Amino acid sequence: MTSAQAQQKILQLSKELETHNHNYYVLDNATISDFEFDKLLEELISLEKQFPELLSASSPSQRVGGQITKTFNTVKHQYAMLSLSNSYSVEDMIDFDRKVREGLGYQSDQLFNDQIEYVCELKFDGLSISLIYEDGKLVQAITRGDGVQGDEVTTNAKTIKSVPLKLHGNYPPKFEIRGEVFMPRPVFNAINKEREEIGEAVMANPRNAASGTMKMQDSAQVAKRKLDCFLYNVMGENLPFKTHYESIQAAKSWGFKISEEAKLCHGINEVLKFIMHWDKKRFDLSYDTDGIVIKVNDFKLQKNLGFTAKSPRWAIAYKFKAEQVSTELLTISYQVGRTGAITPVANLKPVPLGGTTVKRASLHNADIIEKLDVRIGDQVFVEKGGEIIPKIIGVDFSKRKPDAKKTKYIDHCPECGSKLERNEGEANHFCPNENECPPQVVGRIEHFVSRRAMNIDSLGGETIVQLHNAGLIKNVADLYDLKKELLLPLERMAEKSAQNLITGLEASKQVPFERVLYAIGIRHVGETTAKKIAKKVKSLDVLLNLTKEELLAIDEVGEIIALSLHEYFSNTQNKVIIERLKQAGLQFSLSEDQHQNGTDTLKDLTFVISGVFTQHNRDQYKEMIELNGGKNSGSISKKTSFVLAGDNMGPEKLKKAESLGIKLLTEDEFLKMIE
Ligand code: IVH
Repeated sequence: MTSAQAQQKILQLSKELETHNHNYYVLDNATISDFEFDKLLEELISLEKQFPELLSASSPSQRVGGQITKTFNTVKHQYAMLSLSNSYSVEDMIDFDRKVREGLGYQSDQLFNDQIEYVCELKFDGLSISLIYEDGKLVQAITRGDGVQGDEVTTNAKTIKSVPLKLHGNYPPKFEIRGEVFMPRPVFNAINKEREEIGEAVMANPRNAASGTMKMQDSAQVAKRKLDCFLYNVMGENLPFKTHYESIQAAKSWGFKISEEAKLCHGINEVLKFIMHWDKKRFDLSYDTDGIVIKVNDFKLQKNLGFTAKSPRWAIAYKFKAEQVSTELLTISYQVGRTGAITPVANLKPVPLGGTTVKRASLHNADIIEKLDVRIGDQVFVEKGGEIIPKIIGVDFSKRKPDAKKTKYIDHCPECGSKLERNEGEANHFCPNENECPPQVVGRIEHFVSRRAMNIDSLGGETIVQLHNAGLIKNVADLYDLKKELLLPLERMAEKSAQNLITGLEASKQVPFERVLYAIGIRHVGETTAKKIAKKVKSLDVLLNLTKEELLAIDEVGEIIALSLHEYFSNTQNKVIIERLKQAGLQFSLSEDQHQNGTDTLKDLTFVISGVFTQHNRDQYKEMIELNGGKNSGSISKKTSFVLAGDNMGPEKLKKAESLGIKLLTEDEFLKMIE
């Protein structure tokens, strides 16, 4: 294929992909199957690899992510990103309408009769973003920051499928559009479910999840988080619109995702109706909204009204009240988590709240119980904010029963009876009996069998509890002593499930060393750290004999991890468990394959990878560097030995490498180096 033919094909594929993308993510109307879409995308990516000079910054391939942003550049906003003043009641809203009309110089009879035209929009609960388009192409995306300057997050924003990379229709040559990036509830729930499964901390709410995601360095990870974005504010010089409503409808025609719920209202009464409607209906949406934004529609009137120091006088946010109810506190129970942390939980008389029935609420820790002075039998106020678990925010003291006893926090573990401890500066008490306290033991075994660890999916949470209660497993090594004959007498344990369990355990003996190291559950040793350690030490025996200094020399291992490793391996019980797992046949060293590929060729060399590659992808290069004894780093410094430079390397990096005299390697040169 000639370059000209490739160019034509790339253009055609890009256009096709963007149309399908827009249909699906903006118009909510799929026009192609996922499979066919992926095929077209693969074809485009492969052409762009063959003809890297034809790769455009607004190609649909950029949505897959892959580029790493080590530090986000700070960029000044062309127009400050102000916030809105808040209101919480009907009176506040009527007051706002009065101020608007007074501000426009209405006389008393006019004040009574003339209605202002407002646009009511949902207040999306995410993080605000400013997108800059030039000649119909997205050129920059900036977070709000402090309102004057924010972080440039263009690479990450490109992975949001509803953000158009290229516009269509009659758009202005240069303009800015602002909106809200958010994480849809179903996406948030799915991510949290997966996190729970693999024993990772769940995210508090979709807002935090969205803003955390936009700050991730690896745009491929951002792409996986499936963020979405509503736009609500078009800005620029000499734009041809007279009203806000007109401007957002135009933006819709250029390809932006504009909320269908935005409504033109005549006068404050229609605004109030809109507010009442959404106060109830908001729970039916697939994303979070924490209020309504009301904007004067006419741009001339907006201009007349102007701004205060912090916010426009022509707009206001009506904030929904976090729904609150009062109910009786029946009992307080204390949960013991996998790590031994104790969480007090309020058991409540069931009460409907925000679309679900609430039976339990978090009481956080001893200090909060003390501060609220909650007692069993109290009428308590429960609120459902952005968090998953509702919380108790106070006590109705007027209804306190005279005999209500002050709550005394437990001092012994409700599960195993050990005396609880509380570390200096930590909010939660914890049970120190990590090897015998049942929820801690079960939790550790659950982690051990989880998908990313030993992946024994024939052993679920309930069965683990059952086996533990039956006295068959007290630690992960006991799993490998299980026999079919021991399992069959258990309730609900059919021949087939017993066999599957044994087969699953047998198969897990092939799980590579790095995952075994993660599975045994050393505090602070997550998946990535376990991988790095395994690659470096190659076998557990080596790891056991490393000094603290040697541990610290491993990538990713700092003081805390080094200490945790040391504590884990000096515990006698752990030593016994490891020995038994070894006897059972688990992998405690890298396989022959993994060994053979490794060399010391790049020992003591530090690499920075930058740009787009054609022969292997970034992760593969990173792996090759590590396998050959080298180190990866995200930023260029005096310590950098080489920059592995692909196409389109960032100009800043290039400048820095040149100024420090660091050699740039092409892909070919690098591959030769490790041949
Ligand atoms: S208009 C001058 N419209 O709420 C401010 N903001 O405190 C113009 N927000 O930072 C903002 N939904 O992040 C506007 N439909 C909407 C909105 C919205 C959410 C956020 C935005 C802003 C904050 C205002």
